[in-house]
Amino acid sequence: MNREKLRKCLEQERKVFIKMHPKSKENFQRSEKCYLDGVPMYWMLKWPGGYPVVVKEAYGAYFTDIDDNEYIDFCMGYSGALFGHTPPQVIDAVHNQMKKGLTYTLPTETDVWVGEELQRRFGLPYWQLALSATDANRFAIRLARFITKRKYVLVFNWCYHGTVDEAFITLDESGRPESRIGNLGFGINPRETTKVIEFNDIEALKVALENKDVACVLAEPALTNIGIVYPQRGYVEALKKITEETGTLLIIDETHTITGGLGGYAKEIGLKPDMLTMGKPIGGGIPVGAYGVSEKIAKVISDTIDRSTIDVAGIGGTLTANAVSVAAIKASFEHLFTDANYKKMVSLMDQWIKGIEGVIKEFDLPWGTARIGCRGEYRFMKKEPLNGTEALEAEDLEMYEYLFLYALNRGILLSPYFNIMAVTSPELSEKDISHHTQVFRESIINLMK
Ligand SMILES: Cc1ncc(COP(=O)(O)O)c(C=O)c1O
Repeated sequence: MNREKLRKCLEQERKVFIKMHPKSKENFQRSEKCYLDGVPMYWMLKWPGGYPVVVKEAYGAYFTDIDDNEYIDFCMGYSGALFGHTPPQVIDAVHNQMKKGLTYTLPTETDVWVGEELQRRFGLPYWQLALSATDANRFAIRLARFITKRKYVLVFNWCYHGTVDEAFITLDESGRPESRIGNLGFGINPRETTKVIEFNDIEALKVALENKDVACVLAEPALTNIGIVYPQRGYVEALKKITEETGTLLIIDETHTITGGLGGYAKEIGLKPDMLTMGKPIGGGIPVGAYGVSEKIAKVISDTIDRSTIDVAGIGGTLTANAVSVAAIKASFEHLFTDANYKKMVSLMDQWIKGIEGVIKEFDLPWGTARIGCRGEYRFMKKEPLNGTEALEAEDLEMYEYLFLYALNRGILLSPYFNIMAVTSPELSEKDISHHTQVFRESIINLMK
């Protein structure tokens, strides 16, 4: 790739972005006077373009911004709205519940339906609700430490599990653990709470767990946030065996990998965790989280937890399991997490990947693709990464920003932050996917000419 040409093309797309989004810019300038650096949530600053696009409304797989630009959405609220924006069945269920009360710190009859459904879908017998996937992970870690009486958590290099302090740790170039770059204002260096190893390294896993001082391994069944890294043959079996042998609890975070199957990706690949955490899409767009535990863990908790102090035990909060969130999960499981929807989403992702691979081949690009069900991506290297460090080699921020903005300026929103990633909601059409392929092809031609 000619980097000079890439920079010029990127500059051009930045200009187009500014021209197309004058009202979003005005809104940003006003926001700068009331929000820290102009955004209501700090990581919105990371959207390419200089300021975020301001949304007017979103339905199905589409949204319109306040400059009246129209978009096909392949980001879907970073999968919070995986099955479509403004899903009518979720809106109706939430609305009906709202008329009867928003939150009670008491369950409704819907809670038990949701508990049974979580059990049926994901295979773990006992559940708790949370308000986000981060929450679910935090609570699961706390319980794991309580049960095992051990201090450490083990995570994989370049994982992401939400704003979980223990998980903000990476390996430096010589393989030593260090606080992750960008880890703001931590009180305790995560080196003191966490062990970190590379994904797919069975030997490292054995060594990390052999002292029996690790309460839990917190892992996605395949890494997703540094780009997709699949477990190699034999890895999940080893993960299960070594955690069991050392009395370490295995927490599987399905927040992203749930795109790999309606019962989660772990189930698809035959991995049985001790605890399972999730959030985002299960509320159809309403904030929710959930975590399930095995029979054995449930028994230890029930037998040993002090019920007189459970309100200050550090699991759950006042609005956790509020009636609105619970109603949203029910509607979402009933109407969105359906076989018909999932089949369509996977088939649309087949088409998305095929389109990308066609262009990669046509222009002989040194790039590769990966997918987990209806989540797909292309990375800026051919080699399939074995772990987080290898996945990081694909990082090319200029290329990423150029391709992202080129698509955005032509009415396509992709997922932000690392590789170019997309999820395919069932609200998309094959025409939308073809449009994406065409725009992607044009963006490459533009670079080459
Ligand atoms: C694997 C994984 N777990 C947990 C989270 C946290 O989700 P939330 O920010 O909704 O709490 C994320 C966020 O992207 C994630 O990718």
